[in-house]
Amino acid sequence: MKANRKVLTLGLGLFVLTGFGNVQSAAAEYVIKFSHVVSPHTPKGQAADIFAKLVNKRMAGKVKVVVFPNSQLYNDNKVMEAMRLSDSKTTGIMAAPSLSKFVKFSRQMQAFDLPFLFNDIVDVHKLADSKLVEEMTKPMERKGIKALSFWDNGMKVFSIKSDKPLTKVPADFRGNKFRIQSSEVHAAMIKALGGTPQKLSFKEVYTSLAQGVVDGQENAWSNVYSKKFYEVQDYITVSNHSYLGYLVVVSKSFWNNLPEDIRSELTAIMKMATSANRRFAAKADSEDRAKIEKAGKAKVVELSAADRAMWVKATSKVEDKFRRQIGAKILKDIHTLLGH
Ligand code: LMR
Repeated sequence: MKANRKVLTLGLGLFVLTGFGNVQSAAAEYVIKFSHVVSPHTPKGQAADIFAKLVNKRMAGKVKVVVFPNSQLYNDNKVMEAMRLSDSKTTGIMAAPSLSKFVKFSRQMQAFDLPFLFNDIVDVHKLADSKLVEEMTKPMERKGIKALSFWDNGMKVFSIKSDKPLTKVPADFRGNKFRIQSSEVHAAMIKALGGTPQKLSFKEVYTSLAQGVVDGQENAWSNVYSKKFYEVQDYITVSNHSYLGYLVVVSKSFWNNLPEDIRSELTAIMKMATSANRRFAAKADSEDRAKIEKAGKAKVVELSAADRAMWVKATSKVEDKFRRQIGAKILKDIHTLLGH
């Protein structure tokens, strides 16, 4: 969907004004507005576009999906409120906020934010593909949110504007402010590493880094690249300290009201979009890192095994702090599943 398209919803019909002024009637019984905050050229953006493309082709006349990227429609906190308040039976809101943004709806989801819980994306998939995630997402249903699928971005790296990279903890973090998502686990992790956390919405990150409101941030490669964070940072440390992933969610009342055949076709298409998302994420992980290195603006540094061990040690109490909130049993089950 081109950014300059204007979308007007009229009754149950949808009319799209293209950049060339052509009016295409695309009447459908049901409309899904898919809102997200990242650029279309990211693993989430691409998967949302594939989902829309497949639905619009295979379910033409029945369901129309319109994607709104770059926080055009809502930021992540607003979208979940809109989803819960919406009572339309014909227009549904769908979104894929990062897992860190679900704590209000399920405390167990905070497990995904824990530092050094996952060694790599293979570990993440063990959990995302397990039965344990059903338990973790179930409380959301009581709050009007239906979980549909887990999507990847990737392991996170740290960036900073400084005359030295982030390698030694706590020394290199001390005196520096780091933008975090609205996650208490992230806040505890930054403090444990020696820095000061500051919660900001995704759309504020670039300006806050550029203006020195914060010194650094943590994110996956595709976000650092597509939002140009690397242009206003001096160093990026390949810390792979935790995971950035998403949960695709939809208004529960809208979803439950859909006819069974439509719901199962949408579920099947979501499965295809999820497989595509994993491919996009793996590709972006290496390609976006390479593009950042080639640009030569921020210098990419690896964390030595000894320094990494210091990061692990410094953050080892974060899990204890959240054990009761997340649930000792689910945490134990996650560790058993991951085998460490
Ligand atoms: C962030 O806020 O850093 C991420 O959640 C943005 C995203 O959706 O990838």
